[in-house]
Amino acid sequence: MKNMEQDILKVLIEENSIQERVRSLGAQISRDYEGKKLLVLGVLKGSFVFMADLIRAITVPCEVEFMAVSSYRSGVKSSGVVKIIKDIDINPLDYNILIVEDILDSGLTLSYLRDLLMQRDASDIKIATLLDKPARRVADISPDYTCFEVPDEFVVGYGLDFAERYRNLPYVGVLKPEIYEK
Ligand code: IMP
Ligand code: MG
Repeated sequence: MKNMEQDILKVLIEENSIQERVRSLGAQISRDYEGKKLLVLGVLKGSFVFMADLIRAITVPCEVEFMAVSSYRSGVKSSGVVKIIKDIDINPLDYNILIVEDILDSGLTLSYLRDLLMQRDASDIKIATLLDKPARRVADISPDYTCFEVPDEFVVGYGLDFAERYRNLPYVGVLKPEIYEK
């Protein structure tokens, strides 16, 4: 069996740096949402590892939901066309929503999702991303909370995939270009 590690060019963010940053972000979110009705809304699948660690670092009460979207990527690029695969059936009006995503890249997926929730009269929507790749931004959007800014390289691990693989790496690494250029 081939080891996943051989496909990684370099480790970008070590496991313990992620843990430390996620804990402090959880503390910040707990202060900001004190006394508010918080809904943590994960975007599947990429957010699930980050989300699992983040909610355990949040000390105020919260509810948890997931949405699944597909953004019709061709190779490593977003097309901007978003399809809802799994929706939520609660009324967003009642909640302060914190959308949790793995990475903000072009921003097309999250701006679509944010607009959709706004159309449903959600009053308070904020965005928390593990990673922010501002060099590639197309949509007018930025995260309210982010853990790390990353350069314009394709990264995997800690929930992020290429072709559904590498999500289970405990760190964030840069994928060797020959893997996705094949
Ligand atoms: P956006 O719509 O271009 O912001 O892309 C959103 C989605 O693309 C993210 O939720 C990821 O699933 C995926 N994505 C963007 N950049 C990367 C990357 O470097 N590695 C893995 N997935 C990525
Ligand atoms: Mg993805």
